[in-house]
Amino acid sequence: MTNAHSSISPVMVASENGRAGMTAAMKLLREGGHALDAVELACRITEADPDEHSVGYSGLPNVLGEVELDASIMDGRTLKSGAVAAVQGYGHPITLARRMMSELPHVLVVGRGAERFAAELDECPANQLTETALARWRERFVEYGLEPGAAKDLRTVAKQLTRPLNLQDKLLKAAKVDTLGTVNFLALDQYGDLASAVSTSGIAWKYPGRVGDSPIIGAGNYCDNRYGAVACTGMGELAIRVSTARSLVLYLKMGMTLQEAGLEALRDLHYIFTEPTQYMNIVALTPKGEHSGFTTVPSKQYLYMNAELTEPQLADRTRL
Ligand code: GLY
Repeated sequence: MTNAHSSISPVMVASENGRAGMTAAMKLLREGGHALDAVELACRITEADPDEHSVGYSGLPNVLGEVELDASIMDGRTLKSGAVAAVQGYGHPITLARRMMSELPHVLVVGRGAERFAAELDECPANQLTETALARWRERFVEYGLEPGAAKDLRTVAKQLTRPLNLQDKLLKAAKVDTLGTVNFLALDQYGDLASAVSTSGIAWKYPGRVGDSPIIGAGNYCDNRYGAVACTGMGELAIRVSTARSLVLYLKMGMTLQEAGLEALRDLHYIFTEPTQYMNIVALTPKGEHSGFTTVPSKQYLYMNAELTEPQLADRTRL
């Protein structure tokens, strides 16, 4: 492809857990790679990390002890997108999402259909549940005085186990793991194209089949070359209810600055808060390479990197 925009310097933005993926993807962008390939590569690295318990292999399971993965990818040049949700037995949902975008006239395929699609692509099925994740699942039941796996009434158990942690909660010490984690990657390449990718195992101990914001285009992921790319981490139900990613991009389209648009998206989220501990984080990147992070809770950061930096840098997210 002709490099018609060689003056554009690549930029990447990610959630805090995206360090390794971002470093590898920025190398690809520096070498003339495309934003879409960069965000997929970055997600794949995070998905394969056995120490990352909110994404891919070793993700925390649902209330039945099953790992169910969600992911989406979006191309800012064409606004094409692909997503899969509630996938069991396949560890790279981001690649399924990318192939969904290129090989089917659909955006989102879930559960058995997504698993069938993976098998047709010759992806290797493999157990995504690790001993560490299984041990945390057991511990969570014990913390609540429940018998792992014995529940008849999953509604009550899932509601109890996924209850957002209260800072006053005696259980907080025991639950050191981030049960609302997800990974976000946004990239601007030297051709002026934006892409976004999100991957997650979803909220830990969720009701089977629950789908969060990550594979929902417009909620946890949105990308448009003309205005910007946005992705979310946190309690996905919140971003679904107010279409956080698309809203922020729309606020940019309507002429707001990045800061104004991010604060407006936070106002949307604060309007629907019922529990102060249900948090949402946002990252955003504009076609000019400006970036920012926003959050509803204190002390949250995000990662960014450009072609001049040798490693990803942390920056504070803005709060209302
Ligand atoms: N943000 C990820 C989820 O809620 O599933």
